[in-house]
Amino acid sequence: MSEQFYITTPIYYVNDIPHIGHAYTTILADVLNRYQKQVGNDSFFLTGLDEHGQKVQDAAKLRGIDPIDHCNEMTKRFTSLWDKLHISNNDFIRTTEKRHKKVVREILNIVNDAGDIYIDEYEGLYSISEERFITEKEAENGQFRDIKKLKEKNYFFKMSKYQNALINHINTNPEFIQPEHRKNEILGFLQQPLNDLCISRPKSRLNWGIDLPFDKDYVTYVWFDALINYITAAGYNQNDEIFEKRWPADMHLIGKDILTTHAVYWPTILMSAGIELPKTIFAHGWWLMRDEKMSKSTGNVVDPINLIEDYGVDPVRYYLMREMVLGQDASFTSESFINRYNSDLANDFGNLLSRISTLINKNYEGVMPAAAELSSEELKIIKFSSSVVKNFDSLMVKMAINDAIEEALQLVRKINKYFEHSTPWKAVKEDKTLAGTILYTGAESLRIVSVLLSPIMPERTKELLAVLNTDNSDRSWGGLKPGKKLGKLTPLFPRIVADTNNVN
Ligand code: MSP
Repeated sequence: MSEQFYITTPIYYVNDIPHIGHAYTTILADVLNRYQKQVGNDSFFLTGLDEHGQKVQDAAKLRGIDPIDHCNEMTKRFTSLWDKLHISNNDFIRTTEKRHKKVVREILNIVNDAGDIYIDEYEGLYSISEERFITEKEAENGQFRDIKKLKEKNYFFKMSKYQNALINHINTNPEFIQPEHRKNEILGFLQQPLNDLCISRPKSRLNWGIDLPFDKDYVTYVWFDALINYITAAGYNQNDEIFEKRWPADMHLIGKDILTTHAVYWPTILMSAGIELPKTIFAHGWWLMRDEKMSKSTGNVVDPINLIEDYGVDPVRYYLMREMVLGQDASFTSESFINRYNSDLANDFGNLLSRISTLINKNYEGVMPAAAELSSEELKIIKFSSSVVKNFDSLMVKMAINDAIEEALQLVRKINKYFEHSTPWKAVKEDKTLAGTILYTGAESLRIVSVLLSPIMPERTKELLAVLNTDNSDRSWGGLKPGKKLGKLTPLFPRIVADTNNVN
């Protein structure tokens, strides 16, 4: 039965151009979205931009242009990158859109009517880079920049009121915060009394935001505004039928640095507004550059556009998905990219296709032979392929995407070994029926692996399937029909010869 699946990425700040971190989360969501669709679910994938707040106001000011003009320009940069990366999102939300501003004001009113908002004068340490008041302890830890003492009247959301309900929700819903160690991190954080959340900024300081509906001298704190995007795009208070269908979200994909906002602020806001909580918040690790955090100041930020230009979109998608163990940090290097590409894609996957296609072109006039005589060996491969599909699914559901990819490649490796000892290139000379069986078995395995990997490499797997002249995306054995003429072989994954001067 088709199930609903609603997956979101964080909405990205437009103060900076898109880098590998943004690209990674968006590709990951895209892979999961395509996978859900492939297994027959009705998946809805949302991404977008976080356009309000101090950072954006400052970025526009620095350029001497209006914040909205700056946002419009940045939107083009992001959407054109998503096009290049073949991102298949169903909606793209910008927090400056009318539909969103309306929902933010409605939620503020609901939370206010519930008695969960109060005004107070607060004196404390404020981090401009974080755009929030920070504790003495956080200031001492030295993790935040641009700290100043500030005394201000502001509106606060009674987050503390929901602390126990939140702890209870986390404990009774083990899938709510994933992976497990992130859940424990939040539970640890919740052992201390939770502060209330300052949700306003006086216009004297910041006016690039959504006006508070109950006090026009203030704009809404950017995180309170941004988090609500997930329900705006799901149709909240716009289309009840659609909202019923999509909400609660199945998965908010985020990076580990924005866990507290998603796993503490967001659920307590929803509780106050009487809206169901998302099913899963999944925090992934960071891409590091040679084990160091990427940062503009050290100039080690990887630009996804350069990568695509150098290696192609699908190999980049493949590398990012294959190399990161979800939940942990991963290190990005050109060497590991080239090694991974050459060993998995050029040697194992691409090479098998060219072997099969060359042999069929040479000996069968380019027509797919039948598997006429299955021996116990082929039967074993058929059985193996069905266990690969099963394991692939359970790994995808567990978000172990790197392992799922590895599982699919096991079938390619098995066929490469099978070819080594059944030597179809010799068999064609003696027994064309036997050789045909071997080649069909190899080709059908390749078809299944391509179908499995298609959410990760949508374009190259399509090309591969075109060489086999099939569009059958069924994952069970026998989808390839004998008697069909193969398509023209194009080198799908030409080996990369490392240019040692250019390895960064
Ligand atoms: N605007 C907020 C999110 C609001 S969601 C309601 C924001 N934006 S961001 O543009 O700064 O960051 C977005 C995401 O990029 C975060 O999930 C962050 O973890 C991710 N990454 C930024 N650098 C990264 C890496 N080097 N590696 C992987 N992801 C990283 O935060």
